[in-house]
Parts: sequence; structure tokens; C-alpha cells
Amino acid sequence: MNGHFDFGYPWWLSYGHLTVFAFAAALWLLGSARHWSRAPMVLLGAIVLWSTAAFFVTRFVLDVNGRASLPTESFLRSGSGRVLDMGAGTGRSSIMVLEARPQTTLVALDLFGDSYEQHFGRGATPQERLLANLKAAGVEQRTTIQAGDMRQLPFEPAAFDAIVSSYAVDHLNRAGVERSLAEAARVLKPGGEFLLMVIAKDPWLQFTFGPLLLHAGTRGPEWWTSRLQEAGFQVVDHGMRPGTLYLLARRP
Ligand SMILES: C[S@@+](CC[C@H](N)C(=O)[O-])C[C@H]1O[C@@H](n2cnc3c(N)ncnc32)[C@H](O)[C@@H]1O
Repeated sequence: MNGHFDFGYPWWLSYGHLTVFAFAAALWLLGSARHWSRAPMVLLGAIVLWSTAAFFVTRFVLDVNGRASLPTESFLRSGSGRVLDMGAGTGRSSIMVLEARPQTTLVALDLFGDSYEQHFGRGATPQERLLANLKAAGVEQRTTIQAGDMRQLPFEPAAFDAIVSSYAVDHLNRAGVERSLAEAARVLKPGGEFLLMVIAKDPWLQFTFGPLLLHAGTRGPEWWTSRLQEAGFQVVDHGMRPGTLYLLARRP
């Protein structure tokens, strides 16, 4: 329990601002020593301040390589059942649910293809990396790892009590979003819950990454609510967490 986690997101998401800080601070010191004019010194000072603040936000608020907590306690209040994680990646969202709901079991499904490599790079096989994190959390006994496409889920109808998907459905094009949400509705039991988490270009992300934030598919709650309703869900709650929009939906 609580061993070493490696969620595998690129280092620059957590530490990239330190390189900006080091560069700007070195120039500021050089400028001070050589009595540069006021304008470049003010600009460099502003970059030093921004990169310092942005580093603390990325490292300690967004914390993409740290453990995640449930964005809403309303998800799976019953505390038990069989859960599907669509797009489990290196296990961050799976561990989030398994730790918060210790009576659950979970199927961690991922395509383990190009999108996986784009996010997490190469190394040990994706399944090994996922398993290592599950073991570090002490939840591997409650988890099944399965390769599969969330647009065509390899499960019978009504096979799950709940579904989670974080930062995965929003990586698909519109047709892919519609297919994966329809698949989620198919494999969820009536009354089952779906916790959908997507990247949101909120003030935290705007401040830290600004114009560099080129991530596609950041849409608002109305857009996601419409897609979920079209797939047959009722959206019962939605809200924001730093960098994240979450929607809690129920299958009638
Ligand atoms: C940004 S990662 C998110 C991983 C994890 N849920 C988390 O919160 O850290 C997106 C994941 O979705 C997976 N993915 C993308 N398209 C998929 C598809 N069609 N079916 C299953 N998984 C997919 C990728 O392989 C990748 O691991």
C-alpha cells in the first residue's frame, strides 16, 4: 500500500516552469549586474514571478502525476459494485475510485495504442506499468486489466454498476465521443452511475499554460450534457475542479 507511483505524464507538465524560471532568473541577474534598462528588467521580473507561481500550481494544484481524489462524493455512494474505467492509462483514475470505494472491483480498460504512447511514452509494456501502479496502491487484487476500445466495448449489456472515465473520452473526435457514450450506456446497469471527467480550460490552466494549451476537445458543461443526454443518460450533477470539468450521469 502507498508504494511508489509512476503515472507517466511528461516531466514538463509538473516541472517545465522551473526551466523558464531558471532562464529568466539568470537573465535578470545578468541584467542587474550590467545595469540593463528598466523595461527588460520589469519584463524578466514578471516572468520570474509568473513561472514561480505557475510551477506551484502545476506541481501542487493540478498535480497530474500525483494521486487523484474523486471530484464528487456523490459518485458510487453505495460504496460497492463492479466499475469500468474507460481509458485507464497508467491507472490514476482507477486508483482514485478503488481507494475511495474500497468495496468495489474494477475493470481497467484501455486501447494501449498510439494515444497511450503519446501521453506516457514507451518503456515497460503498458499493462506492466498499469499493474505496477495498482500494486503500489495495493488494489491489484480488485482490478482486471483489459485491452479494448471504448467505442466498441467488449462487454455484455448491463455488465457494470458504475463507470468512470477521466481525460479519455475528450481525446476522441465527435463520432468517437458519441459511440463511447452510447457504449457506456449499453454496458451500465439501469440506475448505474457514470462519472465523466474531461480537461477544462479553466483559469488554472489558462494561467499556467496560456496559449500553449493546445489541447483539443475542451468543451463546456452544456456540450457534454447534450452528448450524455443523447446517449440516454440523465445528468444529475456537474462541477469544476482545477483543470477539470466533471459530470455525474445516471442511466434511467
Ligand atoms: C490522458 S490518458 C488518461 C488516463 C487516465 N484515465 C488518467 O486519468 O490518468 C487517456 C487514455 O485514454 C486511452 N484511450 C484513447 N482512446 C481510447 C479508446 N478508443 N479506447 C480505450 N482507451 C482509449 C489512451 O490510451 C490513454 O491511456
